[in-house]
Amino acid sequence: MHPDVEFRSVTKRFGSYLAVSDVSFVVPRGSFFSLLGPSGCGKSTTLRMTSGFEFPDVGEILIAGEDMSNVAPYRRPTNMVFQRWALFPHMTVYDNVAFGLTVDRVAPAELKTRVGEALELVGLTSFAARKPKQLSGGQMQRVALARALVKRPKVLLLDEPLGALDLKLRVQMQLELKRIQREVGTTFIYVTHDQGEALTMSDQIAVMNNGRIEQLGSPQDIYDRPMTRFVANFIGNANILPVEVDGISGTQARVHMGSLSFVTDVSEPPATRKALIAIRYERIRIGEAARGLPVMTRGLVRDAIFAGSAVHYLMTLEANQAEITVEAAHDGLSQPIAPGTTVDLGWEPSATRLFPDA
Ligand SMILES: Nc1ncnc2c1ncn2[C@@H]1O[C@H](COP(=O)(O)OP(=O)(O)OP(=O)(O)O)[C@@H](O)[C@H]1O
Ligand SMILES: [Mg+2]
Repeated sequence: MHPDVEFRSVTKRFGSYLAVSDVSFVVPRGSFFSLLGPSGCGKSTTLRMTSGFEFPDVGEILIAGEDMSNVAPYRRPTNMVFQRWALFPHMTVYDNVAFGLTVDRVAPAELKTRVGEALELVGLTSFAARKPKQLSGGQMQRVALARALVKRPKVLLLDEPLGALDLKLRVQMQLELKRIQREVGTTFIYVTHDQGEALTMSDQIAVMNNGRIEQLGSPQDIYDRPMTRFVANFIGNANILPVEVDGISGTQARVHMGSLSFVTDVSEPPATRKALIAIRYERIRIGEAARGLPVMTRGLVRDAIFAGSAVHYLMTLEANQAEITVEAAHDGLSQPIAPGTTVDLGWEPSATRLFPDA
């Protein structure tokens, strides 16, 4: 069986500007695939080439095994949901959803069934007679989704579809979208610059930077084992600290950081002795929880920032006087550690990842 979408070494320039550079990936049928990266990294361009609104300069795009080089957008088995939903304001919810089927001259009985199913899927059956201006942002977003799904595309392309919603609604819609995707089994390619969104919904994430894919993997893969410094920094919160490499053996290295010598996992083997490690705020254990761990050191608490479910400690590491942040879960019972206290810190070798210092 062919994957639903395949990019083979795709490059796209706008004039001399390299927007997408040698991008390859495969999207398996029925999966939720996200393109994640900062503004301007080439996400929308990648999506627009999938839909046929842009064409690559180099490389091939296949959908269901078929080369799309000479296939116009309206002939592709894809459909797009945009950040601004662009509903027809004078039409009801029902007519908005039915619009594409009317254009395709779908028979009235079938149209009625399919629109009914689509509205039910997004939970808007009782809103069918309303006009868009009588809807909330989240409801409009659902109409846009129903309008795209009713056409039964093989692949649904979504370009930051939740961008205009406030945070609470976004989180609610993320779960809804995932449910709907599971229910219909359509392949979703989802563009976002929001890491939380990508981590929550995706089967696979392609992290993009400067027109390239830096890493492709499952959410947990990308979070736990970032393979580049950019990925370590962009996803989650990481301390980036200078170390000296004493020796590398396979996927592990011995390094030292001031007076502290320890073993770390290697992401990218550095060519020089001076290198960097990344360690996530929450992978550093503090106080009691640090004792007995393979890497142990101490730190001075400079400040404690209360963030509800967690406390962020700004600390100075005893070993090299580096400033770090440590995140500890807040249990609602104990008081945060007071500034000025020196505490034990510890972590596992797999908590740190080694990168070149460049
Ligand atoms: N039609 C165009 N002509 C010239 N440059 C373009 C065009 N479309 C996009 N670009 C440039 O290509 C780069 C990638 O754009 P793209 O829209 O793919 O980024 P993006 O990752 O979707 O960013 P955002 O998160 O801001 O939407 C940007 O630097 C952009 O300015
Ligand atoms: Mg974009």
